[in-house]
Amino acid sequence: MAVKTEEKLLETNKLRASCLFEIQSCDNLKKLETLKSAILGKNGKITEVMKQLKTLEGDRKRLLGAEINSLKDIVTKKMNEKFSELEMKELDKRMRSEFIDISLPPRSENVGKIHPLTKVEEEVSNILSSYGFAFADGPDIESEYFNFTALNVPDHHPARAMHDTFYVHKLADENGRKLLRSHTSPVQIYAMRENTPPMRFFSVGRVYRSDYDATHTPMFSQIEGIMIDKNVGFSHLKWILTDFLRKFFEVKSLRLRFRPSFFPFTEPSAEVDINYEIRDGKIVFGVGNKWLEICGCGTIHPNVLKSGNIDSSKYHGIAFGFGLERLASLKYGIPDLRGYFEFDERWLNTFGFSHSAK
Ligand code: DAH
Repeated sequence: MAVKTEEKLLETNKLRASCLFEIQSCDNLKKLETLKSAILGKNGKITEVMKQLKTLEGDRKRLLGAEINSLKDIVTKKMNEKFSELEMKELDKRMRSEFIDISLPPRSENVGKIHPLTKVEEEVSNILSSYGFAFADGPDIESEYFNFTALNVPDHHPARAMHDTFYVHKLADENGRKLLRSHTSPVQIYAMRENTPPMRFFSVGRVYRSDYDATHTPMFSQIEGIMIDKNVGFSHLKWILTDFLRKFFEVKSLRLRFRPSFFPFTEPSAEVDINYEIRDGKIVFGVGNKWLEICGCGTIHPNVLKSGNIDSSKYHGIAFGFGLERLASLKYGIPDLRGYFEFDERWLNTFGFSHSAK
């Protein structure tokens, strides 16, 4: 029996040596997990030896029991140490592989540019808002009534033909044939009907005419403005347009010339020119005696006020209309109108604005 215990003790020593060797030479956490269950798990080597204790008795059992317990303690301790060591190693490896060198210069970002129309729309809106003009809107698909009749353009009036209107065939309702609005002036009628005077509104939007060359595109944009009050007249129009254009072109010396003209919706009507000169092949505003047409305007015709349900014996109004692309092209030197709608990135990179620009 004594021999048997000796043998067992010898076996325990061997087991300790082999376990410690295996733990020591293990080089990754996954392997260590497997090793742990192979040594200390339910069917692990040490557990197996402990099961054999049951077959012994008395002193032998105690002697061998103490030996196996110390073996288990040592192996468990070494195992835990190895776990910490490998965990540290793995963390270290991850930290090194995920290292970010914050001293490197950033990669250049491909940031989009702001379209000149967006930029100019914002500039125009800011100036008009500062006079107390609020934004008003109307539909792109209009009817003959709002696009023409309500604006004092009677049936068969030549002005209807002047606009080269796109009609939406087969579509009509009580307001006549449907069409793509040829100007933003119909917004005047909605603004008048939906509000009571005094009022100041402006609109910016797309309009459509069947025309295509370097200075005409089938779709372009207009700005419309109206102001209605008891004592409003041409002098207000002159002040507003002068101040507006000086601010927009950022030229204090800009001069305006009001030329008598005709629009069915205003009476009297005028076209406004601004002065300029060509210097070194470039257009310079506010100097010289050359004139460039910039907008149409007038005092609102009583028939138009009537269409807007406004009593023309009490109230008067002024109105004006600009082409947005024309404003943008003149201010920023953009040559061909067609570029605005071709969605060519090279065009936008040339004429667009970066986000940081004011
Ligand atoms: N609707 C005109 C056009 O498209 C522009 C215009 C002229 C608008 C005079 C107005 C105005 O409000 O008073 O040609």
